[in-house]
Amino acid sequence: MSISKESEWVGMQDVAKVVATVLFEMKEFTRPGMSTLEIDEYGGSLLKKLGAHSAPKLVYNFPGYTCISVNHEIAHGIPRANSIVREGDLINIDVSAELNGFFADNGMSFVMGQDLYSHALLVETSKSILKKAIEQIKDGVRISAIGRIIEAEAFKAGYKVIKNLCGHGIGRRLHEEPREIANYPDKFNFKKFTKNSVVAIETFISTKSNMAYTLKDGWTLAGNKGGYVAQHEHTLVVTEDAPVILTTGNGIWS
Ligand code: CO
Ligand code: CO
Repeated sequence: MSISKESEWVGMQDVAKVVATVLFEMKEFTRPGMSTLEIDEYGGSLLKKLGAHSAPKLVYNFPGYTCISVNHEIAHGIPRANSIVREGDLINIDVSAELNGFFADNGMSFVMGQDLYSHALLVETSKSILKKAIEQIKDGVRISAIGRIIEAEAFKAGYKVIKNLCGHGIGRRLHEEPREIANYPDKFNFKKFTKNSVVAIETFISTKSNMAYTLKDGWTLAGNKGGYVAQHEHTLVVTEDAPVILTTGNGIWS
């Protein structure tokens, strides 16, 4: 959406604060031995307390309040009673919600406790790439230029990017125009970021795979060549200068 009035600013700030808070609290809550279902139900209870509705449930009828993806799962992982989090696991939690007709989206990967399997560098690289990419977004910048930054920074660190997952416009709907903010320079994408538009920027930094495919459960995404993926995501408003990041409360960079 493109913000044109004060009530839209307020609506976006309110929903973004909710998703950021819920993501932060879910990460804090997560301990080895917990099931991803338990973590999701905690997130669902927080959303409810804050008056918001899970966007994946509302929009896609997803079987969970949030997406929780563990280790080789890239994204859209279904919270399950038999998926138990262990020390050293690479975990991704993605929280998106609707409040008063507005949508916001954010996500983060993190290592559970001790970094037993050396995922920390992947996670830190994804965080810093998100920062570098967002810093370059302003009115008139081509969307493909941001993909170029993300891919170049990933390559520089010895990683790849997932090409068929991307950031997106957001606001009145979970996914809206521009629909594809890719992690690589898509030369066929001539669209530009425009002032006052709301977008969700997300990284998909990968150790081996470059494409995601859907597992038999119909939801969970895994990589075509295995390995691990880290994702970090913020919802922000484009301006003529530095973007206004609405989901800073998730603590990705702190
Ligand atoms: Co998103
Ligand atoms: Co998301």
